[in-house]
Amino acid sequence: MASFLSSSILLLFLFFPIVVPLPLSTNSRWIVGEGGRRMKLAYIWPAYLITNDSLASLTVRQSFQQLGLVESIAGIQASNPSIIDVPLIKAYQTVVSSLGKHNLMVILDNHISKPGWCSSNLDDNGFFGDQYFNPDQWITRLTQMATLFNGVTNVVGMSLRNELRGPRQNVNDWYKYMQKEAEAVHSANPNVLVILSRFDFDRDLSFIKTQPVKLTFSGKLLFEAHWYEFSDGPQTWVTGNPNEVCGRVATYMMKTSGYLVDQGYPLFIGEFGIDQTGANVNGNRYLNCFLGVTDELDLDWALWTLTMRYYVREGVIGLNEYYRVLDYNWCAPRNSSFIQRISILQAVAEDGYRIE
Ligand SMILES: *[C@@H]1O[C@H](CO)[C@@H](O)[C@H](O)[C@H]1NC(C)=O
Ligand SMILES: *[C@@H]1O[C@H](CO)[C@@H](O)[C@H](O)[C@H]1NC(C)=O
Repeated sequence: MASFLSSSILLLFLFFPIVVPLPLSTNSRWIVGEGGRRMKLAYIWPAYLITNDSLASLTVRQSFQQLGLVESIAGIQASNPSIIDVPLIKAYQTVVSSLGKHNLMVILDNHISKPGWCSSNLDDNGFFGDQYFNPDQWITRLTQMATLFNGVTNVVGMSLRNELRGPRQNVNDWYKYMQKEAEAVHSANPNVLVILSRFDFDRDLSFIKTQPVKLTFSGKLLFEAHWYEFSDGPQTWVTGNPNEVCGRVATYMMKTSGYLVDQGYPLFIGEFGIDQTGANVNGNRYLNCFLGVTDELDLDWALWTLTMRYYVREGVIGLNEYYRVLDYNWCAPRNSSFIQRISILQAVAEDGYRIE
C-alpha cells in the first residue's frame, strides 16, 4: 500500500525515535547501533517523492495545482508556508531534515515508478521489465537518492522496491537486479541499511533459503515482509476457525520468511495494520495471530499507517484511510485500545533485546 502525489518514484518514511548512536548495521539477525546495542525498529509513516527530473523541479504549489488540490494548497500555505514554493525534491529534503531535528529516523522506501496507488498486479510497475519498471532507470534513480541523503544521519535505511508482483516475477531477475541495486546504493551511501522485499506483494522470500544473496559488503542487509489480514485470502479469518487459520498462516509465514531469523538474517515487517474502527472482524482476528507470531520471533516492524486520508488516491480526492492510527487532528491515537494491543511489540529490555 502507499499514498502518492505526482511522483515518478514514491518513497515511504518510517519514523523511529533515535535512541542509539547511528548509523545502524546488522549483526546476525539483529539491527544494532554503533557500539553493538540492539535497535528495534518499531514505528510508522508514509509519504511520497519525485525523482523524475522534470517533476522534481515542480514546486509543491504547481504539483498540487496540476492535481486540482486547491484546498490543500491553502492548508499547506497556512501550516508550512516555507515549503509551498520550493521544488518538490527540496520540500522532501526539508521534511527529512525536520524529522532529524526531532530525533526521528527515516527509511526511504521506493514504492512505484509511474505515479499511482501501489500496488496492483496489473499496474505495470510490479517487476523488472514491466512497462513502467525499467531496471536501469531504477538503479540510476535510487543511486541518486542514496547520494542525496549521504551524510543525512537520520536516514538509516533504504527499501529498494515495495511489493514486487505480477506475471514477470522470477528468481533470476530478482537476484540480478536486487544485488546490483544493493551494491549501487551501498557505494553511494554506505551508512544506510539496504532493505530487500519479497515476491507476491512482499509475501514470499522462500528462495533465499537455497540461494543466499551475494554482496561485497556485510552488516547492512535487511529483509522485508508485509503481512495483512487480506494477505491470506478474503475473509479467511471469519470463515475458518481462527486458531487453525493462525496455525496454517504462521506455518506459511515461517516457510516464506520467518525462517530467515533462524538462519541469522534480520527480518523486518515493513507493513501490517488493520481497520482501526474495529469494524473488520477478519482484521481483528488476524491481529491476534500477527501479534503472537511477531512477538515470538521478536521482529522489527512498521505499521501502516499514520495518515488519516489521502490528498488523492485512485482518482478520489480526500479518500479516507481506515487503517490510520491518528485522529482527525493528528494529535492523539484514534483507537487507544489498538495502541495498547500492539505495545507488546515495543517491549524490549535495557539492552534492546526481548524481555523474556
Ligand atoms: C517524468 O515525468 C513526466 C511527467 O509526468 C513524464 O511525462 C515523463 O515521461 C517522466 N520521465 C521519465 C523518465 O519517467
Ligand atoms: C478500537 O478497536 C476495537 C477492536 O480492535 C473496537 O472494538 C473499538 O470499537 C475501536 N474503538 C474505536 C474508538 O474506534
